[in-house]
Amino acid sequence: MLITGGAGFLGSHVVDRALREGASVTVLDNLYTGTEHNMKHHQGNKNFTFIRHDICDRLPISLDNVKLDFIFHLACAASPVHYQAEPIQTTMTCVQGTYNILQLALRCDCPVLFSGTSEVYGDPLEHPQKETYWGNVNCTGIRSCYDEGKRCAEALCFDFHRMHRVKVRVARIFNTYGPRMCFNDGRIISNFLVQALTGKDITIYGTGEYTRSFQYCDDLVEGFWRLIQHPTETGPVNLGNPEEFSVKDMAEKIKAMVPGCTSKIVYLEAAKDDPKQRRPDITKAGTVLNGWYPGVKVEEGLQRTMEEFKQRL
Ligand SMILES: NC(=O)c1ccc[n+]([C@@H]2O[C@H](COP(=O)([O-])OP(=O)(O)OC[C@H]3O[C@@H](n4cnc5c(N)ncnc54)[C@H](O)[C@@H]3O)[C@@H](O)[C@H]2O)c1
Repeated sequence: MLITGGAGFLGSHVVDRALREGASVTVLDNLYTGTEHNMKHHQGNKNFTFIRHDICDRLPISLDNVKLDFIFHLACAASPVHYQAEPIQTTMTCVQGTYNILQLALRCDCPVLFSGTSEVYGDPLEHPQKETYWGNVNCTGIRSCYDEGKRCAEALCFDFHRMHRVKVRVARIFNTYGPRMCFNDGRIISNFLVQALTGKDITIYGTGEYTRSFQYCDDLVEGFWRLIQHPTETGPVNLGNPEEFSVKDMAEKIKAMVPGCTSKIVYLEAAKDDPKQRRPDITKAGTVLNGWYPGVKVEEGLQRTMEEFKQRL
């Protein structure tokens, strides 16, 4: 099994699951946002191989004659701070990188799960978002390298499917959190947790009235597992938690979880092109993925995440 982006936050949880399931795993990752620390616990495992590699480049020769059974394709920085720092590289990772991975899936004739995103819905005019919604995306703004990059990558997936019968499995992931998130990636949960644990101000961009839904990483990985093994379903399939919170409520919840927290909640200027609300309609996932539902309650997921953050801090 190949896992691109396996040194990153979500990829590393996919690696853990794959090894638990008895798979032999190769990770391709250029360590742009991923870390060796996320894979440290697999050192010495003969079923685990890490190749430091940029997926925009020609794939490593060592993969030339390998017959893969599954490919999980997650490589791409996911947080605005990181993907906007190298926007051209972001677009190229989405487009050239995904093209290279689809060619590999074609040669191996194996299912390839593409980690798409709710960002394809942009600032949605439909709420909650169903897979049939085409989105409202600014194609020239500072988020477009990621949003449009991922939209183009989806288009490539479906063209490889239509033209070459590649078994694509497109998941559209909504905000997901959990242990091993980067501390400095500017995402809501990681920001708030680090700030609350270190007694710094908890910073909300804008009024905090806008809403987000948050999915725990293990729920996503379970959805991935069911989707990649599906005999025919190409997706797109939304994977997210439909429970919606205002960002302000989330800040208060996290502050309350840290005993004796001295942080103040402060409001800063709103981020550009930030969508006002986002909530997945997961009816399709429940139907095609055999009753899949994100069952981890936010209190529990936050607690597990906080414990791991405390260890790293
Ligand atoms: N976390 C979320 O809430 C979320 C939501 C929607 C979609 N996704 C998607 O899931 C995937 C994983 O997200 P994540 O949160 O784990 O992000 P992450 O930044 O932690 O992980 C991305 C990984 O990809 C690697 N990478 C980036 N560009 C690469 C390249 N050109 N070649 C090889 N490796 C490269 C990074 O080093 C990192 O290890 C991404 O494709 C992202 O778009 C995540």
